[in-house]
Amino acid sequence: MLDWCVGIATTLLIFLIYFGYFFKFNNVKDLRTETRSFYASNKNRKIGKELPPVYPNGWFALLESSQIKKGQVKHVSALGENFAVFRTERGIINILDAYCPHLGANMAENGRVKGDCLECPFHSWKFRGEDGYCENIPYTTKVPHVARVKVWKSCEVNHIIFVWYHSESAEPDWQPQPHTFVSTGAWRFQGRNEYLINCHIQDVTENGPDAMHLNELHSPPIFLSGEFSWLARHLWIIYTRWQPNCSYDNQMNEDEDEVIKTSAKLKGVSIHPIENDKGNRHFTVAQNTDRNREEHKANMHLCHKVMLLERFSIMESDVRAEQIGPGIIELNVNTSFGSLYILLTITPIEPLLQRVIHLIFSPPLLAPYANLLFLGECMMFERDIRIWNSKRFEQHPILVHEDRTIQVYRRWYSQFYSDHSPTYETAIKDLQW
Ligand code: FES
Ligand SMILES: [Fe+2]
Repeated sequence: MLDWCVGIATTLLIFLIYFGYFFKFNNVKDLRTETRSFYASNKNRKIGKELPPVYPNGWFALLESSQIKKGQVKHVSALGENFAVFRTERGIINILDAYCPHLGANMAENGRVKGDCLECPFHSWKFRGEDGYCENIPYTTKVPHVARVKVWKSCEVNHIIFVWYHSESAEPDWQPQPHTFVSTGAWRFQGRNEYLINCHIQDVTENGPDAMHLNELHSPPIFLSGEFSWLARHLWIIYTRWQPNCSYDNQMNEDEDEVIKTSAKLKGVSIHPIENDKGNRHFTVAQNTDRNREEHKANMHLCHKVMLLERFSIMESDVRAEQIGPGIIELNVNTSFGSLYILLTITPIEPLLQRVIHLIFSPPLLAPYANLLFLGECMMFERDIRIWNSKRFEQHPILVHEDRTIQVYRRWYSQFYSDHSPTYETAIKDLQW
């Protein structure tokens, strides 16, 4: 009997050590088939009238650093473009337009990395990664000066390869910044997920400023999802509470009177109230704390509590979310056990198709906790995805006072569109051939 107990305990310990320290999440899912069945045909789904442009201006993730080795080239199709991303033998990332200006071969498909150049697989013209000029044509000594391929500005930060996209070809006026502990290697990569989602990019990014959905969609505890969700609806043993404190706009400072007024209205319309630290019910949205932040950034502060029997807080975390440009969100999570970092990127693959990736990093000793937290994050995020995969974009939504951060956020986000930003119609036309 004792042997059995020791055996089980050892197996459990090995599993815990493996799960905690060696296991890395790689959760790649496509939930689109699941939600497609909501409609008799995908054509029945409405996309929404007067959609905002489909490809905003900014830095977008194309690949993760680990996905491309020295001497490799990868083809990435996104933002209505085809990119040939390659890493030179010196480890430097370059991004060229995938199509060769000679006779149009896709250089990312079977092209060869030669030194700092990319060689086309068709007639072996060799293009420099740095400026796109053709350096060599094997069957002539006269290389025409016009033989040049477009170079896309790129950077590799926090284990992600980003490309700069601008519909007016403007130069970047900001750049993703390295995270102190991630870039020095002090914090370990702990896992990733990847989803393809059928919706407009703003549907995904508005998840944060849409504070009112947090208590509604994300309250049932994660382990009561799926077939046990009925239990969460009827028996609230544990629930998750969010406390938003957005700061998207300098004009959104609110005085005490406004807070009280909002609180009264909140009760009047029976919208789920939010509690502050002391447990007082009031609405603290749009409290601006940082007047000097850069324009391409927006911040949000969430207090996340797991409550037992609606009374005892058994787990608390403080999440500082920062949106950086149109397609990058950083979550700095502070818990009683320590801090973690989640990097979320959103890249439009097609006008209404987004690739969303989360990467999580943590101090090595916090790895088991990071794994658990990441599992929860994936499950919570999948609740959003099921909504996004079947909704339409509402350009003129009917909002109540408590939803006003959405409007403020949309004003902030509009800075990433310009005169020539592709509309849904022009982008779709561009994809046809
Ligand atoms: S098509 Fe690329 S070298 Fe000819
Ligand atoms: Fe959400």
